[in-house]
Amino acid sequence: MAAVPEDAKFSLKAHFDGMAPIYDGFGPIWYEMGGSLLAKNPHPISSSSIVHDNACGNGVCSSLILKEADANNTPTIYATDLSPRMIAEVKKRPGLENVKAEVMDSEALAFPDNTFTHSVASMVHPTTLRPDVLTREIFRTLKPGGVALSAQFVSYGWLGFTQDAIRKIRPDAPPFQGPVPEEWKTVDWFKNQFVNAGFKPENVDVSKITIRVAFQDIWPECRAHMCKAVVMMMAGSWSKADSEALYEELMRRFDPETSDGDGFDHETLLLVAKK
Ligand SMILES: C[S@@+](CC[C@H](N)C(=O)[O-])C[C@H]1O[C@@H](n2cnc3c(N)ncnc32)[C@H](O)[C@@H]1O
Repeated sequence: MAAVPEDAKFSLKAHFDGMAPIYDGFGPIWYEMGGSLLAKNPHPISSSSIVHDNACGNGVCSSLILKEADANNTPTIYATDLSPRMIAEVKKRPGLENVKAEVMDSEALAFPDNTFTHSVASMVHPTTLRPDVLTREIFRTLKPGGVALSAQFVSYGWLGFTQDAIRKIRPDAPPFQGPVPEEWKTVDWFKNQFVNAGFKPENVDVSKITIRVAFQDIWPECRAHMCKAVVMMMAGSWSKADSEALYEELMRRFDPETSDGDGFDHETLLLVAKK
């Protein structure tokens, strides 16, 4: 398993940098999530809108917004992300030539207070180290009357069979919870991030959808990236032989040819907050 160096440790930044060129290969999840989230927007986006695509990845939400926009009535969009490789993908993406894309930490935004009419953060909270700081920055940079739109998974469909694979290799292994703390995976936790950041509780609405991912829609290199990430989260505490065995077992379960099922579901929260 040359893919996973023996002493490799999981790093969020390296994880997303590695995902950048293959980001569209994880099935349609990011598009389904972003599209469902934008469909909840109560204030239509127009040429007078100033939109922040926060922790934008390869520009999924920017592209969805511009696809819906009238060509003569396009908004100003700022797309920011910590990963230089993600921003490079935004810059070369056809249709996003007018999007102002730059590398920026969502926990320390360089924008002045009250800048945006819309602030979109799709699948960002679980990926940041300090989601409370991220949400305060969303509140600070949003204009009064502006809308924050945010989405996150609350159940990770791949976690169940990943836990089974781990137990198969190491029956004594402690339960694996994945990259996100258990307490973050609730409606209350998500809503409280926004209320604690300054949004009035009555102005924060959360709904739930289920997003299905079919194994056959995930590119092989994306399967390898995910399986490698799980193994790296174990690195340090597992032997090389056990790590290799886990990687192979996970790859078998993610492969549509050899898997025990045809895919998995992610329960997903869609949050709309008005400032
Ligand atoms: C799952 S992706 C979501 C991307 C995009 N919002 C979408 O809808 O597809 C999470 C993104 O958050 C970015 N990210 C994580 N922590 C960040 C931070 N502190 N500041 C800026 N971007 C961050 C990652 O680089 C990655 O591109």
